[in-house]
Amino acid sequence: MTETYYVTTPIYYVNDVPHIGHSYTTVAADVLARYFRAAQRDVHFLTGTDEHGIKIVKAAEKKNTTPQQLADEVVVGFRDLWDMLNISNDNFIRTTEPRHKKRVQKLVQDLVDRDEVYLGSYEGWYDEGQEEYVTESAARDNDYKSEINGKPLVRYSEQNWFFRLGKWAPKLIEYIEANPKFIQPTPRRNEVLSKLKMSIDAGELPDLCISRNKEKLPWGVEMPNDPSHVVYVWVDALSNYYNALGIPEIGDEFDGKFAKYWPADVHLIGKDILWFHAVYWPCILMALDIPMPKKIFAHGWWTSEGKKMSKSMGNFISREEIAGFCDEYSRDMYRYYLLRAVSFGTDGDFSADMFKQIYNSELANGIGNLLSRTIKMIDKYFGGEIPEPVETLEEAALVHAAAKAIYEQSDEMMQNCAFHHYIDKIISLVSATNAFIDDTAPFKLAKDESQRSRLGSILYTCAEAVRIIMVYLAPIMPDKTASALQSLGCEQTQGTLAELGKWGGIKPGTKIVQTDPLFPRKQ
Ligand code: MSP
Repeated sequence: MTETYYVTTPIYYVNDVPHIGHSYTTVAADVLARYFRAAQRDVHFLTGTDEHGIKIVKAAEKKNTTPQQLADEVVVGFRDLWDMLNISNDNFIRTTEPRHKKRVQKLVQDLVDRDEVYLGSYEGWYDEGQEEYVTESAARDNDYKSEINGKPLVRYSEQNWFFRLGKWAPKLIEYIEANPKFIQPTPRRNEVLSKLKMSIDAGELPDLCISRNKEKLPWGVEMPNDPSHVVYVWVDALSNYYNALGIPEIGDEFDGKFAKYWPADVHLIGKDILWFHAVYWPCILMALDIPMPKKIFAHGWWTSEGKKMSKSMGNFISREEIAGFCDEYSRDMYRYYLLRAVSFGTDGDFSADMFKQIYNSELANGIGNLLSRTIKMIDKYFGGEIPEPVETLEEAALVHAAAKAIYEQSDEMMQNCAFHHYIDKIISLVSATNAFIDDTAPFKLAKDESQRSRLGSILYTCAEAVRIIMVYLAPIMPDKTASALQSLGCEQTQGTLAELGKWGGIKPGTKIVQTDPLFPRKQ
């Protein structure tokens, strides 16, 4: 049976329009999905929108519209952006869809049936931006303001339903300690662990309030056991990862055929929402006796030209700006930049200068130039047919080694979301091949008929290296690599990544096709 691979992005709030931060997680997830599809895994890639909660209500009020209308409008912007960025998700969940609501209720009812939920009362501080209760000491430490958006915390007092988080937290600690790769990157894992331990020691890990009074907040999924409450938006949202695969017992459109994808291979998220994913979600799953996701990976945050992006500064890299970069450079370059400019897991800065610099040095002068040199020489010296590699070339050792390194390590790098290492390996192959051309000087050999078989072997090596570069770059740059493979006469080549990534795939005699430069230099 084919091994499955299930990757998710956060579901995005519809209180605001999409921006670079959203595109980051989604592009990364898309690259994983495309890579593992190429590696012949049975992939499921889920994204969607988070449409309930106070944030959406407030945003709708401001715009003089209803939450549903706002969600219906904003979701279009997300879908358009994913089209523009060539995102290949298999499923898109909106939390206001009846299929989702029904499943949230089932999940919460299961918690009730297992006595994991009880009615209690709550009084305390609430961060409306984060939709989260804040402990007295955390509120005090932060001057009774939101740690995230700096807005004043609000005093709430309610009768509510609570999930027995405290009961599961010690078991979660054991789980995190026994599974060092469960939360990544490691510094984030350590943060979660120490915060968990400290909160428990200080007696400050209260049970999780999972309902909201419907009179105050009608915009949510009704609690199945109590129509006067709605389900806390984070429980509603987190459950999407499991729910979106369908729950056969309550009837679903997939007829249970998607159940095989659980547990998820990776939940990709931003660092700001790690606690919800690394603590609340796993504890809920443990309480329901549902297997844990294999990995939760929290990436860093983007700043814009060195400054934190914020509404008040009006410096978000918006969908319109992303479109501008895509028009000027190609959507593939935008995807490449996101994963190249910073290592996945750390913060990064989006700068137009850096964008151009990476484009010119790595794509125009690096990969693009290598492709066009190779194609031109094959055209000129061998009438456009890829020559036979008759001779073994000592000088090609580094090229072969670089190709072998990607072949052997790509799966692991992708499993670990180490996109920067993956791209490094590709760039090493580009550099090794460019150095190989400089070293062997085929343009000089071409003048000497006695060197013909050596020349042919050199150009075969170049063509094969370029093909392999394109095969591995394809998940990141699907459009550009398709046209490069077409100019190498390889676009029809079918096979698994294990076959396509192996040295020697290009057939001598294949006709190359001259094309426009893949990455024209930008001034
Ligand atoms: N709806 C919740 C997620 C629920 S998942 C069960 C949410 N939505 S969000 O729209 O506010 O944010 C979604 C993601 O965008 C988060 O992972 C967040 O980290 C990411 N980003 C928002 N701004 C960002 C940057 N400036 N840089 C990188 N990512 C950032 O939270």
